Amino acid sequence: MIQLDRRLARMAELMTPGGIGIDVGADHGYLSVSLVASGKAKRMLATDIRPGPLSSAERCIRENGLQDRIGTMLTDGLNGVPLEGATDILIGGMGGLLIAEILQARLPELKGFNLVLQPMTQAGALRQWLCENGFEIVCERCAVAASKAYSIINARYDGVKRECDPFFALVGKAAEDDSEDAGVYLQTLLSREQKALCGLMNAASPDKKKIAHSRELADKLRKLLERRAPELAP
Ligand SMILES: C[S@@+](CC[C@H](N)C(=O)[O-])C[C@H]1O[C@@H](n2cnc3c(N)ncnc32)[C@H](O)[C@@H]1O
Repeated sequence: MIQLDRRLARMAELMTPGGIGIDVGADHGYLSVSLVASGKAKRMLATDIRPGPLSSAERCIRENGLQDRIGTMLTDGLNGVPLEGATDILIGGMGGLLIAEILQARLPELKGFNLVLQPMTQAGALRQWLCENGFEIVCERCAVAASKAYSIINARYDGVKRECDPFFALVGKAAEDDSEDAGVYLQTLLSREQKALCGLMNAASPDKKKIAHSRELADKLRKLLERRAPELAP
């Protein structure tokens, strides 16, 4: 049985039980194999844009004897991917804007899908894009793996466009995850914002508006962390 790291394990937890999933950018194929082997998913389609990673996924599927329940496809994003009958789309280990681009290509067809999205970078840009393009962010689950903190975004497309204020873009619903990993994620965001604020303040010609904006985000994050664990607050 494949042992998923915490990042992939959190993604697997958000899959619809008994669902049929599309694992975009499957690479090694661990997520698809684990989902089907554990019985959480009925079937999966593992895709990748590059033949090398797709071959690794195919090897992993064969080694686990799951060829009849996990298909593979060499393609860019969701191009040409048959969506009919599928319930979930899982996209992990990519930049937030690339994830947005992949979803944009099939936007009108995504109604009803359970989306499990794990941006490695640009999570804020992805949240903003989701809100402004008709997706509801249902929840987020954080994971610390290999000393890095990630948030996994669970979203659904309903076509309703939503406002995304800068603080929501920054933390999203990770603020509602009360796990220790979420605390680490939020602390990482605060450290990053404090660093950005320092940079802005030390610039040759400091931009007062940008400084005020960054300070507001850092203050809100600090207060959020204080409310979660007053004894650990920075
Ligand atoms: C860092 S790996 C992540 C693998 C796995 N999803 C995970 O989260 O551990 C990213 C994979 O996405 C693939 N990829 C990058 N851009 C893609 C695209 N536009 N469409 C499909 N796959 C893509 C890469 O080839 C690579 O195998």
